[in-house]
Amino acid sequence: MARDPGRVLIFDTTLRDGEQSPGASLNLEEKLAIAHQLARLGVDIIEAGFPFASPGDFNAVQRIAASVGGPDGPVICGLARAAAGDIKACAEAVAPAARRRIHTFIATSDIHLEHKLRKSRSEVLAITAEMVAYARSLVEDVEFSCEDAGRSDPEYMHEVIETAIKAGATTINIPDTVGYATPAEFGDLIAGINRHVPNINEAVISVHGHNDLGLAVANFLEAVKTGARQLECTINGIGERAGNASLEELVMALHVRRSYFNPYLGRPRDSAEPLTGVRTEEITKTSRLVSNLTGMVVQPNKAIVGANAFAHESGIHQDGVLKNRLTYEIIDAQTVGLMDNRISLGKLSGRSAFRARLEELGYNLDGEDLNDAFIRFKELADRKREIVDRDLEAIVSEQVQQQGEARFQLRRVQVSCGTGLQPTATVTLATADGTELTEAAIGTGPVDAVCRALNRLAQVPNELVEFSVKSVTEGIDAMGDVTIRLRHQGILYSGHSADTDIVVAAAQAFVNALNRLVAGGQANPLHPQKAPLPVAELPRL
Ligand code: KIV
Ligand code: ZN
Repeated sequence: MARDPGRVLIFDTTLRDGEQSPGASLNLEEKLAIAHQLARLGVDIIEAGFPFASPGDFNAVQRIAASVGGPDGPVICGLARAAAGDIKACAEAVAPAARRRIHTFIATSDIHLEHKLRKSRSEVLAITAEMVAYARSLVEDVEFSCEDAGRSDPEYMHEVIETAIKAGATTINIPDTVGYATPAEFGDLIAGINRHVPNINEAVISVHGHNDLGLAVANFLEAVKTGARQLECTINGIGERAGNASLEELVMALHVRRSYFNPYLGRPRDSAEPLTGVRTEEITKTSRLVSNLTGMVVQPNKAIVGANAFAHESGIHQDGVLKNRLTYEIIDAQTVGLMDNRISLGKLSGRSAFRARLEELGYNLDGEDLNDAFIRFKELADRKREIVDRDLEAIVSEQVQQQGEARFQLRRVQVSCGTGLQPTATVTLATADGTELTEAAIGTGPVDAVCRALNRLAQVPNELVEFSVKSVTEGIDAMGDVTIRLRHQGILYSGHSADTDIVVAAAQAFVNALNRLVAGGQANPLHPQKAPLPVAELPRL
C-alpha cells in the first residue's frame, strides 16, 4: 500500500480546475476570499492556480501563499506543465508559503501523446524524469500527474509512475481527465498501481476526475477502497465541462458512511475518528461564497448544498421527520452548517457587528470597501423588513467582485416601460477618470434597453449569452440577484448584482461583467491543458 497519511487528504482545486469553468474567472480579491474560507473549511491542500498562465495568476498564487499558507495552514500548491519555465514560475509563486507544493503533469495516454504532445512514450518518460527532478530541486513536496490516466495503457503508466517517484515525486495523481471511467474500473486502476509499481509505497496516491458521466464521486470512493489517500475536488463540483468531483459530496459520504469506509483505512468499523480533516459545518458557507463569487448557480437538487437538499415536501415525509428525523434524513442540516441564519442586524446595527458577521461568512472587508458595503446594508435595511445572511452575502460578494477592476461605474439608471409604451432607458456611467457619460436607448423590454444604452457608452464589443434573475430570499420585498454572462472573442465573462429593483441589478451586473471583460481581455491567460508547450520551454533531452 502507498505511503499512508492515516486519513483521506482533501486537495481543493476550486481556484485552479474550478476556475477553468467557462465564465467562472475570479479576480484577486475573490480568490483570496475563497482561499481563506478553504483554510477555515480545513482542506489539506489548496491548488491556488497555474502561475505560468499570466502575471495575474502568478500574483494570485503568490498572495495566497503569503497570506493563507502559514505553518498550521493548508499546503499551497501551484500547477505546472512538465516544462522548465512553468516549474520555475510555480516555485517562485508558492515560495512565500510555509508548506508549498509543485504539481506538475504530462499526458500518458496514446491519444494525447500522438495528437496533443506529438511525442513518443520514451520521450514522455524522459521528460517526466527530468522535470520531476527539477521540481524536486526547488521544493520538497512534488506532485506528479499522468494526465488522461483513465485512458492510458496501465503498463506504460506504471513505468511513468515508477520513474516519477524515483525522480522525487511525493504524491502520484491519477486523473480521469475526460470522466470516462466507471467506479469498478477506477478502483481497479488504483489497485493495479498499488500492486505493480515497485516503489509506490514512497508516495501518496491521489485521484482527480471529471464528471462527464456523473461518476466522479463514485469513482473516487471506489479508489479510496483500493488505496487512494488524496482526493482532488472542487466546491459545488465546478470545473472543466461537467465539472470536477464535488468536495462536499465526497466529504459527507466519508462522514456519513464512516463505518463502511473505516476498515479500508485499517480502522475498526465503529471508529468515530473523522476520515478527513474537513470541518463539515463550514460547507454551506463555503458553497455559497464560491457560488456568489463565480456566478455559478447551484442546482436546487444538488446533494448536500442544493436549496432543496434538506427540504421535505410530501406530507408523509414531513410527518415522519416530525416524529423522528431519522425516518427520512441521513444528515442533520446543522452538520453542514445550514442553520436558521436570520441575523439580528438591523437599521440600528453598528459597523463592528456588521463586520464581525461578514467575517463569519468568509468576507474580510476593510476601509472604503467596508464603508461602501455598510452603506448598502443600511439602504437595504430601510427597504427590507428582515435581513438574513443571504442578503449580506449578495451585497458583499458584489463588493468583492468590483475590487480592482472598476473601469466603469454605474451612476444612474432610469427606465420607462409599461403597457403600450416603448421601453426606454437612460443610463449614466462614470469612466476611470471620473468623466460622466449619459446615453439613452430603446429595447424590447427595460433590461434590453438598459444593456443597449450601456453598450453604446462602453463601446466594448460583446454578446449577451445569459441573463438570469433569482430571488435572494423569500417575500415580496426580496432582492433579485441578476447574473449576466457576456462573450467576447470566445471567452465568457460573468457579472452579478443584487437589488430590490431588478432593473438596477441588471444594469449593475452588466457593468460588472463589462469591467471583468476589460480587465480579463487584457490578461488573456494560458490554459494549462489546451495550450501547446512552447518549444523553448521543452526540456533538452
Ligand atoms: O483533469 C486533469 O487531468 C487535470 C490535470 C492537470 C491534473 O486537471
Ligand atoms: Zn482536471
